[in-house]
Amino acid sequence: MKHIPHIFLCLILLLAFSACTSKSPMDRYIDDLMSRMTLEQKIGQLNLHSAPGFISAERVMDNDENAKLLREGLLGGIYGSSNPALMRQYQDIALQSGAGIPLIFGMDVIHGHQTVFPIPLGLATSWNMELIEKTARVAAREATACGINWVFSPMVDICRDARWGRIAEGAGEDPYLGGEIAKAMVYGYQGRDEVFDVDEVMACVKHYALYGGAEAGRDYNSVFLSRQEAMNGYMNPYKAACEAGAGSYMSSFNEFEGIPASMNEWLMDDVLRKGWGFDGFIVSDATAILEETAHGIGDLQEVSARSLQAGLDMDMNSDGYVGTLKKSLEEGRITKADIDRACRRILEAKYRLGLFDNPYRYFSEERYASEVFTLENRSFARKVAQECQVLLKNDGTLPLRKGAKIAVVGPLAKDAAAMAGTWATSSHNDESVTLWQGISEVTPASYAEGSWLYGDAAIEDAVRYGLIRMFAPGVPIPPVHERPQKLLVAEAVMKAITADVVVACVGEIAGMNGEGASRSDITIPDSQIELLKAVKATGKPLVVVLVTGRPLVLTDIEPLADAILTVWSPGIEGGHAVADVLFGDANPSAKLTTSFPRSVGQLPLYYNHKNTGRPHPDDVPYRKFTSCYIDELNGPLYPFGYGLSYTTFSYSDVSLSADEMPHGGHVTASVTVTNTGYRDGMETVQLYIHAIHSTSTRPVKELKGFRKVFIPAGQSVSVDFQLDEETLSYYNHELQWACENGDYEILIGPDSRDTQMVRISVQ
Ligand code: NOJ
Repeated sequence: MKHIPHIFLCLILLLAFSACTSKSPMDRYIDDLMSRMTLEQKIGQLNLHSAPGFISAERVMDNDENAKLLREGLLGGIYGSSNPALMRQYQDIALQSGAGIPLIFGMDVIHGHQTVFPIPLGLATSWNMELIEKTARVAAREATACGINWVFSPMVDICRDARWGRIAEGAGEDPYLGGEIAKAMVYGYQGRDEVFDVDEVMACVKHYALYGGAEAGRDYNSVFLSRQEAMNGYMNPYKAACEAGAGSYMSSFNEFEGIPASMNEWLMDDVLRKGWGFDGFIVSDATAILEETAHGIGDLQEVSARSLQAGLDMDMNSDGYVGTLKKSLEEGRITKADIDRACRRILEAKYRLGLFDNPYRYFSEERYASEVFTLENRSFARKVAQECQVLLKNDGTLPLRKGAKIAVVGPLAKDAAAMAGTWATSSHNDESVTLWQGISEVTPASYAEGSWLYGDAAIEDAVRYGLIRMFAPGVPIPPVHERPQKLLVAEAVMKAITADVVVACVGEIAGMNGEGASRSDITIPDSQIELLKAVKATGKPLVVVLVTGRPLVLTDIEPLADAILTVWSPGIEGGHAVADVLFGDANPSAKLTTSFPRSVGQLPLYYNHKNTGRPHPDDVPYRKFTSCYIDELNGPLYPFGYGLSYTTFSYSDVSLSADEMPHGGHVTASVTVTNTGYRDGMETVQLYIHAIHSTSTRPVKELKGFRKVFIPAGQSVSVDFQLDEETLSYYNHELQWACENGDYEILIGPDSRDTQMVRISVQ
């Protein structure tokens, strides 16, 4: 020391001092807190349990067990409750035990909380980012008033295979649109600044990563994708959510490249943290660590250690961390730093949420009374649902005349739970406005159930009552198929004969999509098709109202229907909103965000596919030695981006401000869209690109922009899109994001099939 001149010594001390003081208040707070925590308490922070009775996997937690762990300081959070009294009790215990660290409260708030909006796949079809953001805002306000401060949403998994039931929970098949929606949801939940207000929640982006790529659409199945395809076709929504500031991620159940996602270092560390700069925490999906043992990686201790080291911070419902990490540390399998790192990330989230200042800040009886499930929120839910109905076919039967006699038939007509859809955890699901209620409030209507949901009683029982059978053994279960199918159909025919128009409410109940609800046959079940054929035979106009959580194969029913309106699971105000569209009080403007296949054999089916070396046009029948089927066209029945309105639009004057774009420059693409009908309407104008030559193969079309515009009847608007390097870039073979020299097609139109093209060259 004596050899160091004074001036240097001063400098070193100054630097050390400023390093200390330059730490943020959060870092200083957490340093201090962690210095007082025991190893057990740190591991306890990494443990997340569900509230008693919450069901999302086989493992259901028990109140006494939770309370015991809490008293021992071995729980960092609880999820799956919206009961403020219970959550308060848990918080009290947490504060009185161990290091007195407040719990974080998570919940599957997926498409609204008590006020239920359309399922995410339906919401996406609005293509209205402001609207989507506002649904998340309302959900955040309602959830926080109940004490929830962390929501397991947005679900941003891209899916190209409609057999996967969880397609209902995401935004569809396109990574660009999925990214825009991911951002809107994160902003809606968290706000646009760093600070969490008392009515904002932390988002948890899921399921990281590539869960929607499950082989054959079978839930939890393995994913086989190249890194390049993963990055180009699937990852953008996860990345966009990170850019929007998402505070947490949930790892997924699937494996990728032979490593389960919950212990996949490339996904969590290389891409998410180092690549995109994510600095929040990652929680596993429910029992995902435990399930790594079934993946065949090792025992619970081994998989827990590997998951932690790969970057997974919190263990949901596996008790792998709390049960084995201490032992792994003692055996030198992991380091103290591994535990500290994960613990710090969780404490940071709690700090950011303001829980150390006030652990009860998200409970508010006042706000609960004035902001939750209000008339205002319900009327917003109705407006939202009006924008989420895709008119697939209309020969002029719609809109219906008010005063017309309508026969409302079909097993979905009076199903309130089908309106709420999958992952609607609200206590008001039974109050959802049914289709029957919505229609019969407007016009004289008669009703007949019309058919069984499924011809096979065992399947119908499983999708209706499967959860009850598994988790509530004593609860009485009503029999299915009590009344004969023939009788149900005959009753519907009688109603049809005396009506002016038949509205058939068919499709899927909530239990037919969502988690653990994959289907190998995605047609409308035969029993319902029999109903449609029978009512069609009466000669009355037939409107099909399709309730569904996935694209369905409509090839058989399309010719029977005079109009088809896909309403998804439209939420708490579903019946009203559907009636608004059926009777023309609202003009449909939604467009598909998933391709509707002609047959299940086409799956996976997505518009942004590659060309192959032997390409075959979508609408041309079989030709040997080209990439096609003997017995089916290549193209979908209804393409991505498609949806009709009660008015019509024409597209003209597609042009570019320049034919060449230098690197770093930009060009404007423009189109004139004219409302050629007699009603005002909203149109979503879509811009796609196609790289003609690249160093790697590229999709035939990629969505790169869209604008939803209101156009009064008879008027035209000019719609502009700014193109730059970002628009044309992709992950090349070296996984570098690059805009390559060459020619590109710029395609603009009302959907992915019907586009007009101009060319641009990048040099
Ligand atoms: C399982 C589901 O995959 C996930 O989406 C959900 O958030 C968690 N369980 C918690 O309920």
